[in-house]
Amino acid sequence: KVRGLDELLATLIRDVPDFPQPGVVFKDITPLLADHEGFSAVIEALAAPGRDASGAAAVDKVVGMEARGFILAAPVALALGAGFVPVRKSGKLPGPTHAVSYALEYGEATLEVHQDAFEEGDRVLLVDDVLATGGTAQATQKVVEACGAEVIGLSVLMELGFLNGRDVLTGLPLHALTTL
Ligand code: PRP
Repeated sequence: KVRGLDELLATLIRDVPDFPQPGVVFKDITPLLADHEGFSAVIEALAAPGRDASGAAAVDKVVGMEARGFILAAPVALALGAGFVPVRKSGKLPGPTHAVSYALEYGEATLEVHQDAFEEGDRVLLVDDVLATGGTAQATQKVVEACGAEVIGLSVLMELGFLNGRDVLTGLPLHALTTL
């Protein structure tokens, strides 16, 4: 029996109570990744914003955010016939980078991308597993735009609606496969 996307997401994303700390219910996507039908359906659905009305691929690069974003963004790039570019936490990339720091609940984080990762005017789709506060997505959009590329949208597997991350993504179309 072929399972639809909603059924796959409902059955293959596992709730883990009290992880990483008491009171938090962690959404574990590893069962989904381990299921070929589930993983394929999710990759095709995340790639959709990178296609035009006729279904043809219409992006030059797909960006994934370290670390879980990499797992999803790299196969999306292959599905779209596009290149893959990693946006990494600070100190991991060897070449000259553009960097943006942003606030976390406690402290600060920095994201970086290689300055020469894009051609001027490249059309770029961002892909991550979760949109929570939106800080990661917003910082990623900034570093990619600093390279002269155009961010056309953000695809995520899960949006945590109660954190209102959508509200900080001014002018960036969001495609969420499921909203919790
Ligand atoms: C998680 C998730 C997103 C980000 C979303 O990554 O994979 O990238 O948080 O949160 P935000 O919308 O509040 O910025 P995390 O920093 O836990 O890194 P990991 O993927 O390396 O575990």
